[in-house]
Amino acid sequence: MYKIRRQFWLSVTVCIVAIAGLMIPFALQSETTTPVRPAILLGTAWYPEQWPESRWDADLTLMQQAGIHMVRVGEFAWSRMEPSEGHYDLDWLDRAISAASKHGIFTVLGTPTPTPPAWLTQKYPEVLRMYEDGRRAEHGNRQHFNFANPKYRELTRKIAEQIAKRFGHNAYVLGWQIDNEYAEESYDPQTKAQFQQWLKARYGTLDNLNARWTTAYWSQTYFDWSQIPIQTGYGNPGLLLSWKRFVSDTWRSYQKNQLDVIRANSDPKQFIATNMMGWFDGYDHYTVSQDLDLAAWDDYVGKGHLDPAVNGAAHDLTRGFKRKNFWVMETQPGSVNWAPINNSLDKGEVRAMAWHAIGHGADTVSYWQWRSALNGQEQYHGAIVGTDGTPVPLFAEVQQIGTEFAKASPAVAGTSVRSEVAILHSYDSRWAIQWQKHNREYDAVGEIISYYRPLRAVSQSLDIIPPTAPLDQYKLVVAPGLNVLSNEAAKNLAQYVRQGGHLVLGQRSAMKDDDNGLQTERQPGPLVELLGGRVEQYYALLDPIPVQGQFGSGQARLWAELLIAKDSNTEVLETYGKSNGWLDGQPAAITRQVGKGRITYIGAWLDEAGMSAEPSSSWSTFQRQSNPFHCRPK
Ligand code: GAL
Repeated sequence: MYKIRRQFWLSVTVCIVAIAGLMIPFALQSETTTPVRPAILLGTAWYPEQWPESRWDADLTLMQQAGIHMVRVGEFAWSRMEPSEGHYDLDWLDRAISAASKHGIFTVLGTPTPTPPAWLTQKYPEVLRMYEDGRRAEHGNRQHFNFANPKYRELTRKIAEQIAKRFGHNAYVLGWQIDNEYAEESYDPQTKAQFQQWLKARYGTLDNLNARWTTAYWSQTYFDWSQIPIQTGYGNPGLLLSWKRFVSDTWRSYQKNQLDVIRANSDPKQFIATNMMGWFDGYDHYTVSQDLDLAAWDDYVGKGHLDPAVNGAAHDLTRGFKRKNFWVMETQPGSVNWAPINNSLDKGEVRAMAWHAIGHGADTVSYWQWRSALNGQEQYHGAIVGTDGTPVPLFAEVQQIGTEFAKASPAVAGTSVRSEVAILHSYDSRWAIQWQKHNREYDAVGEIISYYRPLRAVSQSLDIIPPTAPLDQYKLVVAPGLNVLSNEAAKNLAQYVRQGGHLVLGQRSAMKDDDNGLQTERQPGPLVELLGGRVEQYYALLDPIPVQGQFGSGQARLWAELLIAKDSNTEVLETYGKSNGWLDGQPAAITRQVGKGRITYIGAWLDEAGMSAEPSSSWSTFQRQSNPFHCRPK
């Protein structure tokens, strides 16, 4: 970790020194001219509704001193914006945006829909979501709404429309955050009926659905759409995957309901985003990102310290949602309040995280939050000023970041990340593994990181993208655990190899089809012929077992697949040492050259030694060609 961070700092320093000559001073212009925003923004979540208006200016003055140029406002303020049905009060928000602008601070407006007011949930109790056990959520927390409920959608659209009409052409409003961290599903009868309709639209006939889900098993056969239940966690794998796809589509339409009305009433220069949660897998983020202008996420370490590989991978994942620069919409000012131990990041670590984000393609880093509400569920959370409204020790570090961002902004403007290596990631595969881990220690994100970490150490940058994305720009494409492989993705991968790319499939790849059913061929299913080999049998491991071969030696843990090379051109790269008898001396990794391309299959979850062992000649070549600096090319 230290090595990676040092390399990172070296790169940043080189970048900053190299660009020093190009720097031009940034000046925010007066309200009468079009305001100019810096290319990289430092921001904070600010809740003016929680404080007397007489306090606002003091806070904004301190923010300005810290180099903050953006406040994110409003995402929980519905009861203030609409104190009774149809009576909107947005004047205070107008005054807050205007007060911020006088300090050179832009605003991002949140739609307040994660927190419906008490009058609303009292009048329309049907908008409250239902837990799986049939209980309704109650007022008093957040995210207590039902994402599929038509009445809730009508009410959220109205409030979003009011705000958009009022601020959609305000030059100090940079953009929009719809809702906040989509997460909670609802299992009420109305949502279930929508799910059944969704299934009908997808499968067309019950015969088709019954066949795709193999419902002859355990007498699951459905004779009517209304018989199909909601299952989560344990159930028919085809049904489980369909529910998650329905949830993803429902979040997308929930979002589009507000997005359309904002779009219709705002300047196209204002972006529309939502704040996502890194590796959170509650819905398919590729589905939900489709209608957005910008991907943004909330970057929290929680307990412990910054791990550049884990956190860097989450940045790269988020960048992959729109395949362009992204925002860190929230990050921790030192500590959080929700981890098992809410330790603070060390002195300097908040700054490291900020530059880490920029290096991975973030254009904004924004702290949650400026100041803790005096009451409410998050009193202990880290903040930039204390309960007395004066700076806490971290303030100086934030100020340093503000100064550095301002200096680096002109040079970073217009740059983006370019990668020659991609990791493929799919929610379908992660869910499929999660539902049937087969080894309770198996973690699909851990598997991705086990490839990301050693690759990141030898490459300038990695992209994390879905398996159907265009792949031509990459020298190497790695699919750590592509458990569910659709025909479309299989075609994309085969074409990539045939056109000269190098594809590495990791353990558990291509076991399932698009309905989470088992492929009728052994792994890697439709890619068996290209590989000239296959998986004969998989084994969950109790204890690590030795692996050795052309990449050096290490250990396989948790999972081992016995491979066979069938084609005369397929080479064995690694073999298992002594273990359960079945695996002893058998192939653990195989590879086949296909024209100028290559396909490799690694059947074992290798430990760090095995993963980072002596690279092959192609890796060394790749390493030599890599730009040693982190500068983002124009
Ligand atoms: C985020 C959330 C914020 C705040 C923060 C605390 O997940 O969006 O509103 O609760 O966590 O860490």
